[in-house]
Amino acid sequence: MGNRRALITGITGQDGSYLSEYLLELGYEVHGLVRRVALEDHRHRLHRIEHLLDRLILHSGSVENYPSIFRLLASHPFDECYHLAAQSFVGEDFEEGFATMSINISSTQYILSSIRELQPQCRFYFAGSSEMFGRAAAAPQDEETRFRPRSSYGISKVAGFELTRNYREAYDMFACSGILFNHESPRRGFEFVTKKIASGVALIAHGAQDHLTLGNLDAQRDWGHAADYVQVMWLMLQQDAPDDYVVATGQLHTVREFCELAFAQIDRDYRDHVRVDPRFFRPTEDIPLCGNAQKARSQLGWQPQRTFPDLVREMVEHELYRRRSELNSSRQTGLGS
Ligand code: GDD
Repeated sequence: MGNRRALITGITGQDGSYLSEYLLELGYEVHGLVRRVALEDHRHRLHRIEHLLDRLILHSGSVENYPSIFRLLASHPFDECYHLAAQSFVGEDFEEGFATMSINISSTQYILSSIRELQPQCRFYFAGSSEMFGRAAAAPQDEETRFRPRSSYGISKVAGFELTRNYREAYDMFACSGILFNHESPRRGFEFVTKKIASGVALIAHGAQDHLTLGNLDAQRDWGHAADYVQVMWLMLQQDAPDDYVVATGQLHTVREFCELAFAQIDRDYRDHVRVDPRFFRPTEDIPLCGNAQKARSQLGWQPQRTFPDLVREMVEHELYRRRSELNSSRQTGLGS
């Protein structure tokens, strides 16, 4: 397997970091496209891949900038390209979604068009999302379910999905999309609800905060673990023919259930600490977003390894550990109270 070369956009994010680890384990030479400001600010912006930095090859550039993508693909041959970079938070105002749409759509077009021109043999993975289903007409959703996105993020992902399909069909490229349902981990960003809860629990456990404010506790999601989901990205690119796959656990849980398990880990009752603020509400789904990953299971032999309680436990443990370490180091430097 040795010597295979992969390019990852969005390498500094949650999925990019797990995918890097996975590909390095498989013996790949792993390259990443990283903004110059991030390269200059390792501690904050590269924290998810800090432990891998001596094994990765990072290039300065941005997916928003066509010349930087073109130059990189013109100078390095890649076997596989994983396009994960995107503005990925859903809860923004639809009216303010122009940047999300234009960045997410044009970056995908830049990469696909550069690959086609410079290295058409390079296999391409596009990070699609369950947000593409939006107001779905039926549950669970699979590869045949109609897309009805209702956020600018969801619309940008449908456009990226269609671009990927079109390059596959029109130019015979090995281009695939994964339609990934929510996937979480200790490396999740703080704007997402699972991380917000895990980190709130740790602050409450250490007495730094008394309560946590959330939106709709009855919102349901199909939550998996990011480390399981990056493996399926790789599997898609190892098949004889390119195709699109739904990646999900098929199990729904509410935000409330996440809270219950997370607070139980510090022997507290979530009802004593969680407040609800309609500011964090989003339009609810009449039909929940829940994936049917039968195709990935049967054709790729993929199975998620971690359960929902495993995920909650790992995220809360990580936050408790992080808060403890922060407190210890501030005590050592004499800043602790
Ligand atoms: N963020 C947030 N904050 N969400 C809350 C809160 C809160 O205080 N309270 C309730 N929720 C609910 C949201 O309404 C939503 O139903 C659910 O929790 C999950 O929200 P997020 O964690 O923000 O994720 P998302 O489902 O909108 O989107 C994520 O998953 C998609 C599918 O994989 C993102 O990672 C997207 O980029 C991704 O495509």
